[in-house]
Amino acid sequence: MRSAQMNSAGGKEVKQTILPHGVKKAIIVDKWTLSDIECLAIGAFSPLAGFMEEADYHTVVETMRLANGTVWPLPVTLAIDGDEHDDLVPGDRILLCGEDGVDYAILQVKSCFVPDKMREAELVFRTVDLAHPGVKKLFEKPDLYVGGPVDILQKPRPERFSDFYLTPAETRERFRENGWETVVGFQTRNPVHRAHEYIQKAALEIVDGLFLNPLMGETKSDDVPAQVRMKSYLALLENYYPHNRVLLGAFPAAMRYAGPREAVFHALVRKNYGCTHFIVGRDHAGVGDYYGTYDAQHIFSEFAPGELGIQLLFFEHSFYCKACQGMATTKTCPHDKDSHMTLSGTKVREMLRNGITPPPEFTRPEVATILIEGLKSPQ
Ligand code: ADX
Repeated sequence: MRSAQMNSAGGKEVKQTILPHGVKKAIIVDKWTLSDIECLAIGAFSPLAGFMEEADYHTVVETMRLANGTVWPLPVTLAIDGDEHDDLVPGDRILLCGEDGVDYAILQVKSCFVPDKMREAELVFRTVDLAHPGVKKLFEKPDLYVGGPVDILQKPRPERFSDFYLTPAETRERFRENGWETVVGFQTRNPVHRAHEYIQKAALEIVDGLFLNPLMGETKSDDVPAQVRMKSYLALLENYYPHNRVLLGAFPAAMRYAGPREAVFHALVRKNYGCTHFIVGRDHAGVGDYYGTYDAQHIFSEFAPGELGIQLLFFEHSFYCKACQGMATTKTCPHDKDSHMTLSGTKVREMLRNGITPPPEFTRPEVATILIEGLKSPQ
């Protein structure tokens, strides 16, 4: 164990310690960075093998491509305190430790650079508003980015549900074992409500298997905690999905809330997990009113057909229609809004936190029970 002393937001210093041979210093990284390290290590962020170097960072921000032209829409960077670490130079090796004192990885420093965060926010998030959780996080991070390949020493241990933390090699193997030639990936940071279930099952009508791949890394504080969500997914799958058609696997990454660009990122990651198809519905990875309802679908037209290597399945806004007596979308339902049951995510969370069960047309009762209980005591 290392003894650590934390200073201001993100800048961290490790006191003491015998460092591995050839390592210049040890730096403590936060949980968000650890989840990036894990994704890099397991190949979820392939072709990235480390934190971005300056050239890749610039082309990613400006053009959604790595310097070699490969599509990659989001920066994956390691930010450290420039004043504290002004002695770092390319060629150095640094040990990355967790706040828990565990040594997680070694970074081989290839480039140190100061980002233009305004530019990054404008292009990646399409806003510089600090009320946007992704922009807020960006500006809270320290000012020096260090890039280079990462060698993992130890994967972070999930507190619970560790069996569901599958690597892309493992999910590909499972898909093969199941005989699935086509698999649709589903990203979510929420409990699976009826609208999610509807678009998943609509997709499952045309492919062999569904990979339910909830994001388990950091989310904003008012999102439902990952552990509670995980329980709710298990209850839902148990009661409403054919077991031989669905694989549940945790996606360790943190949520960026970058809307359209994050949708492209989510699709590429699911390709790495072995999916052939990926669902993008309404306001994918969005937050507040920062993005248009279908911006996260429109962005895919900026790439040549086939360039991403995964087929997108776009779905319109889905809801329960009282007149149709079933789930529908704006594409399939002729009735007006009065017949549609829609509840905002915020409203549903408020109901659940107050112990109120949302209507079954919105959330399956088994799911609602778990969420109400879980939000009372998230263990
Ligand atoms: S996200 O941030 O992970 O995208 P969420 O978990 O709500 O948020 O969404 C998961 C996926 O379901 C996304 O592709 C999103 O676009 C889609 N989705 C969520 N709600 C609806 C809905 N009512 N109709 C259609 N698609 C939806």
